[in-house]
Amino acid sequence: MKSYFIRTFGCQMNKHDSERIAGLLESAGYVPACGPDVADVIVFNTCCVRETADERLYGQVSSLKALKTGGRPDVLIAVGGCVGQRDGEAVLARAAHVDVVFGTHNIHELPALLDAAESGRPSVSILEAGETFASDLPQVREKPWHAWVPVTVGCDNHCAYCIVPSVRGPERSRPMEDVVAEVTTLVADGVVEVTLLGQNVNSYGRDRYGKPRFSELLRAVADTGVSRLRFATSHPKDISDETIAAMADLPAVMPYLHLPVQHGSNDILKAMRRGYTREEYLLRVGKLRDAIPDVALSTDIIVGFPGETEADFAATLDLVERVAFDHAFTFIYSAREGTPAAALADTVPREVAQERFDRLAALVRNLSYASNTREVGSFRECLIGGASRRDSAVLGARTPHNRLVHLPLPTGESAAGLAGTTRLVRITAAHPWFLSGEFADDSR
Ligand code: 5AD
Ligand code: SF4
Repeated sequence: MKSYFIRTFGCQMNKHDSERIAGLLESAGYVPACGPDVADVIVFNTCCVRETADERLYGQVSSLKALKTGGRPDVLIAVGGCVGQRDGEAVLARAAHVDVVFGTHNIHELPALLDAAESGRPSVSILEAGETFASDLPQVREKPWHAWVPVTVGCDNHCAYCIVPSVRGPERSRPMEDVVAEVTTLVADGVVEVTLLGQNVNSYGRDRYGKPRFSELLRAVADTGVSRLRFATSHPKDISDETIAAMADLPAVMPYLHLPVQHGSNDILKAMRRGYTREEYLLRVGKLRDAIPDVALSTDIIVGFPGETEADFAATLDLVERVAFDHAFTFIYSAREGTPAAALADTVPREVAQERFDRLAALVRNLSYASNTREVGSFRECLIGGASRRDSAVLGARTPHNRLVHLPLPTGESAAGLAGTTRLVRITAAHPWFLSGEFADDSR
C-alpha cells in the first residue's frame, strides 16, 4: 500500500484543502505516512501571500532532491495550492525533481495526476477557475471534533498588496442549503466546533443572492445545534450591523473576531485600496464592543507598505493602542509580482521597516500580556485540543475568546481521551502568548 505525507503552508483555507487532499488520497487507497522520509508521495500545499512562505517552500522542495537521488528514486513529489496555481509549469524550472504540479481549483485531480506521473514524466494541471467547492470532496479531519467549512472561495477586493485574487479567483459563495447540510452532517459525526471560512465571509451571498447574507447564514448554521461556531476572515468594510447582532444573539457564536485592519493611516489605507478609513474601523469596533462587551479582537497589520512615513507608522501604533487588540499578526510588507503595489515607487528601506516592525511587535506583546492578565481568576469553558507539542503532561485548550490555555493533565486521564471535550477551567496565570489554568471543580 502506498503512503502519503502532506506539508501545509498558509492560511486556514489551505489547512482545509489539505484535509480534502488527505481524504482524496485515502479514497484512492493511500495510507498516511509518519514523515516525509518514509512516504511514497509527498504533497506540498503551498502559500504565496508573502515572500517568506514562498522561499521556505522552494527551500524545502529542493532539500528533497537528495532523497530522490539517494536511496528513494521512486518517491513522488507534488506541489499544489497557491504557488502551484501561480507558477504552473515554472515550478519545474525551479525544481526539476517535482513530479506533479496542481493548483487551487483542481485538487480533485491529484490522484489521477499522481498515476500519470508514475510513468516518469511530470504531470502539470492548473485550472483557471473552479466549479466545485473542496467540501464536495472526501475529507480526513486533522481533529475529529473540529471542521473547517468554506462558505466562499476567492476574493473580489483587490487590495493593492495582495496576490490572493489572482490565485483563488473571483469570490463565489456556496449555496446556504449546502453549508447547512454539511454542518448538520458534521454535528451528527461528533464535530463540536465549526469554523466557517472565506477570504471575506462578510460579503457571503453577494454573488448569489444579490446582497450579503452572512448574518442569515450564521443564524441558519447555529440552528444545526453546533456547540461552537467561529468564522474567518472578516473584512472591516463589510461587517454589517446584522452580523454583529447575530454574533451577540447566538450563544454558539464565540465572542472572538479576527478583523484585519492592515494599517492605521488613512493615506496608506487608501493606497492599499482597503475601502475604509481608520475612523470607520474604530466605529465598527465600537459597535462590536457595545453589542458584545467582552469580545476578543485580533487583527493583521502590514508594516513598511510603499510610501509609509514615520507619521503613518505612528498612526498604526496609535490605532493598535486605541483598540487594545487582544492579539495581532504582524507582517513586513513584501512586494508580490503582479499586484498593483509591486509597481509602486517610494519603497521603505528594509532596516526602517524592520525597526518599525520591532516597535509594533513590542506593543502587540504588551497588549496581549495585558489582555491575558485580565483573564486571571476567571472561569472559562475550554475546548481541549490534546497534549501540548512540547510536553505530553500538559494539555492545550482554547477559551471561547480563542485564548490558548495550558493545563496540567490530571492523573489517571489521557490527553487523547480528553481531546475534543469541553471543560470548565479556572485561569491561574497569564503569560504574553498563553494562559495557565486548571480544571475547576464543581464546588466553586
Ligand atoms: N506583504 C506582507 N503581508 C501581506 N499580507 C498579505 N499580502 C501581503 C504582502 N504582500 C498579510 C495581510 C493579510 C495576511 C494574511 O497577510 O496582513 O491579512
Ligand atoms: Fe496563502 Fe492566500 Fe493562498 Fe491562503 S489563499 S494559502 S493566505 S496565498
